[in-house]
Amino acid sequence: MIQPNAPVSENFQLPPAMADSAPPVDTAYNFIFWFSAVFLVAVTAAMLYFVVKYKRVKGVKSEPTGHFNKLEIFWTVTPTIFIVGLFHVGFTGYIKNATASEGATEIRVRGKKWSWEFEYPTGDRVAGVLHLEVNKPYKMIISSEDVLHSFFIPEFRLKRDAVPGQYSFISFTPTVTGEAHVFCAEYCGTSHSGMLAQVIVESHEEHKKFIDSMGKMPETCGTPPVPCSPEKWGETLFVSNGCTSCHGMGGSGQIGGAKSPGPKLAGLFMKPGGEMLMTGQAVTPDENYLRESILRPNAKIVQGYNTVVMPPFVFKDPQLDALIAYIKSLK
Ligand code: CUA
Repeated sequence: MIQPNAPVSENFQLPPAMADSAPPVDTAYNFIFWFSAVFLVAVTAAMLYFVVKYKRVKGVKSEPTGHFNKLEIFWTVTPTIFIVGLFHVGFTGYIKNATASEGATEIRVRGKKWSWEFEYPTGDRVAGVLHLEVNKPYKMIISSEDVLHSFFIPEFRLKRDAVPGQYSFISFTPTVTGEAHVFCAEYCGTSHSGMLAQVIVESHEEHKKFIDSMGKMPETCGTPPVPCSPEKWGETLFVSNGCTSCHGMGGSGQIGGAKSPGPKLAGLFMKPGGEMLMTGQAVTPDENYLRESILRPNAKIVQGYNTVVMPPFVFKDPQLDALIAYIKSLK
């Protein structure tokens, strides 16, 4: 199990710092915050003082002071030095996170409406959970399969846009075991707020166990964990790959009382009369149809669902079998 040795950041405003990229950001953030707080108080106090002191008095004429060069130079040069210093801190941090260390493990991150998928050097893909080994350098190669998303891990203080047709990179070393979170930080459609993933930073042994287990049916599935069956595993994959954000919970075809962006899957398998396609022809919703629709979603488009494009998914055969078993079980 993961041992969260939670070295919670000293700052109540920020989540725990869990990677080497976090401390410089926190230092800069804290500095700016307290610098601003001090000046807010100082400027407000001075303002109030002057308001009272130089209140207009009947019969007294104001005597404006002229130019005071020394003061003008002082308040121009001092902030400039601070700003150049802050630029230096920001730029070194940016360069550090944009350059990968020697021997960094490369993980491909794909954003799609509406889930995050991670591809490991073994070629295995996992959606919804990013497993990392503690104290190992990583390089994320980020891309998008549809629209603009933004890959954001607050605990690492890192954020990088996922741009369609382009790769972006981010490098870091997780320094603390425990759980962190991926958010999408760029509005990308109706389920943008649900475009989340979990980050698990684990020990070398735990990580090895995870790498070995990829693409195989786990022993237990779901929350609370129950012994895994193909249907149960399929359900887990269905949820972690974000299928519910287009097909509704349990493939109900409903989200929040309205028609979901993707067709209803409950009761679909071998539905009498078949599934009506855009072409006006009906297709028999059997295993082959389900398989094709997962791997090549645009091969057959269901009538009334041509406005939303489903991204193609890549699964290993056991995973596909599990997903199909799950869809078959939906009534
Ligand atoms: Cu993806 Cu917001």
